[in-house]
Amino acid sequence: MNIEQARLRHRQLCEELDYHNYRYHALDRPEISDEAYDALFKELIQIEKSFPELATDNSPSRRIGSAPLAKFEPVAHSVPMLSLENAFGREDLEEFDARVKRALASDEELVYICEPKMDGVAVELVYHQGRFEVGSTRGDGATGEKITENLRTLPSVPLGLQPPFPGLLEVRAEVYMELAEFQQLNLRRTEEGEAPFANPRNATAGSLRQLDSRLTAQRPLKIFCYGLGLSDAGLPDSHLDMLSAFQTLGLRVNTEMTRRARGLDEVWSYFEELSARRDALPFEIDGLVVKVDSRALQQELGEKSRTPRWAVAIKFPPRQAITRLEAIHLQVGRTGAITPVAQLSPVEVSGVVVSRASLHNWDEMARLDVRIGDMVVVERAGDVIPDLVRVLTEKRTGEEQALPMPESCPACGSRVSQLADEVVPRCQGLSCPARLKEAIKHFASKRAMDIDGLGERYIDQMLSLDLVASVADLFRLDLLSLFRFERMGEKLAQKLLDAIARSKDRSLERLLFALGIRHVGEHTAKLLARHFGSLDALASATEDELTALHEIGPQVSQSVRAFFASETNCDILHELRTLGINPVTQKSATSDLLTGETFVFTGTLTRFNRQQAKEMVEALGARAAGSVSSKTSYLVAGADAGSKLKKARELGVSTLDEDEFLTMMQQLQGET
Ligand code: IVH
Repeated sequence: MNIEQARLRHRQLCEELDYHNYRYHALDRPEISDEAYDALFKELIQIEKSFPELATDNSPSRRIGSAPLAKFEPVAHSVPMLSLENAFGREDLEEFDARVKRALASDEELVYICEPKMDGVAVELVYHQGRFEVGSTRGDGATGEKITENLRTLPSVPLGLQPPFPGLLEVRAEVYMELAEFQQLNLRRTEEGEAPFANPRNATAGSLRQLDSRLTAQRPLKIFCYGLGLSDAGLPDSHLDMLSAFQTLGLRVNTEMTRRARGLDEVWSYFEELSARRDALPFEIDGLVVKVDSRALQQELGEKSRTPRWAVAIKFPPRQAITRLEAIHLQVGRTGAITPVAQLSPVEVSGVVVSRASLHNWDEMARLDVRIGDMVVVERAGDVIPDLVRVLTEKRTGEEQALPMPESCPACGSRVSQLADEVVPRCQGLSCPARLKEAIKHFASKRAMDIDGLGERYIDQMLSLDLVASVADLFRLDLLSLFRFERMGEKLAQKLLDAIARSKDRSLERLLFALGIRHVGEHTAKLLARHFGSLDALASATEDELTALHEIGPQVSQSVRAFFASETNCDILHELRTLGINPVTQKSATSDLLTGETFVFTGTLTRFNRQQAKEMVEALGARAAGSVSSKTSYLVAGADAGSKLKKARELGVSTLDEDEFLTMMQQLQGET
């Protein structure tokens, strides 16, 4: 294929991919299978590999993100991004309706369009000649921040509009994260030792505020378009028709939840319908936006300084409530982390009785200035434990008491210390019963060793009877010891013993995850198991060997080394082995996408070292070689590449720079 042929095919593929993306995301009616889509995508990547100059900003391959920015540039909105006036009940809505009628000097019932008020982050997308050119945040309404690269990574943001398109189109939209995805993200973050996000909106804002768009690409963000900035096309007069025009152009619109309503009774009945659906929706909404349908009437009504006169948001009752903070409990986790949890006077928050709220850590307590006895505002977001959002300091009597950071562990009394880069103090007691309890709970949990039936109730009894001092002791339990439990008969005891025995066969990756090594979540455990193949091999790996692995950073390496450096831990592993738990994993490439290909690396590499590069290609089935020959598939050239680059050019070997190589790896890793 020569460059002209490649350019032609590349353009075709971009158009086809844009089109199928539109069928999938905007219409929710795909025309081809995921496999067929992937095949087109792979072909595109192949072409861009051979002709890197074709990988333009709007190529679908850019969805994986690009090199980090130093800062966000300001973007002036050509039409200000307004906010909405709020209505808190039927009366407010009646007033709004009356105001609109008065301003238009009409008593006829108005046609309104009702849309859910998405609880996310407002953005603007600018399309020139159908290509996505600039994406920005709302900012102060007049000027926002340019986050084009980040928005480009959202699969539901079209990079090219479906023809025929206007020369200029500025679209307003809300970016959001679904609740299930949000909970998964927080679970992963907690496992990796990062602070969880308080709610989906914060998670969305945080994800869009990344200078490195490759991180945004990994966040499950979606978009719904709901408004117009500027356009040079004669769009329909009806707002609803304009939204369908958006959809035809490939933009994602929440048509399913958008309603046309004549007069305020119809609006109110849809508001009630939506309120009833609120808890079952996959995402958070905080109300209903009501807009005059005719854009000519919108124009006539105009706007006040920050809000349009033609729209209003009817808000749901807040998922917040006021209550008293009765006490603060200290929880000791399996890694010894001590976290404060607020015990509240039970209070109903939108239908659910809440009596506990997370306080996260002492930095957070200091920020909120929380004291025992305070009146506080609690908020429920999705299904997560409620958050304490604010202290009503004006309600203080002077009796309230701050809780200092503990000097000793509330469970075992041993010393507590706080590392420089951490926000929580940790109990250092190795035999702390609270830590042990959490460690066993984690060890036995479904995604770890999956010991069916071994729940908190049994673990508590084992600990109070002194039957277990480590996870290894679980495998020493017998019928006699279990008979000492309350209400434990032979059948139940045998069932539990069988479940424990069955767990001996779990894979190495499960065992590694089950051991609860800090910063080793399920994903990292899998990487380590695949690479090292056995506990022994991992135990003797040096920190350098560990960091050389793709995706393993210094934090994980240090923590793995520290784990195996502990004599107690080695004793426990030894015991596990003698008790018959010593899984091994077939070391293997994780995929065969690059089987038969050979890579050579040359020049100064700055984004990764040679060992990491080798790991990456080997994991995909390829080989790394030292010199260029006609058998070389790709030469990856860093700065100051010399003779190898020259030779590769002579032999017609494809060359990649570091960024292109990483793009290719991330793309292929995404497919495994
Ligand atoms: S229309 C001129 N429609 O609510 C009208 N806004 O308080 C401006 N929002 O910043 C907004 N869903 O972030 C509109 N269907 C919807 C919306 C919506 C969520 C957010 C948006 C805006 C804020 C206004």
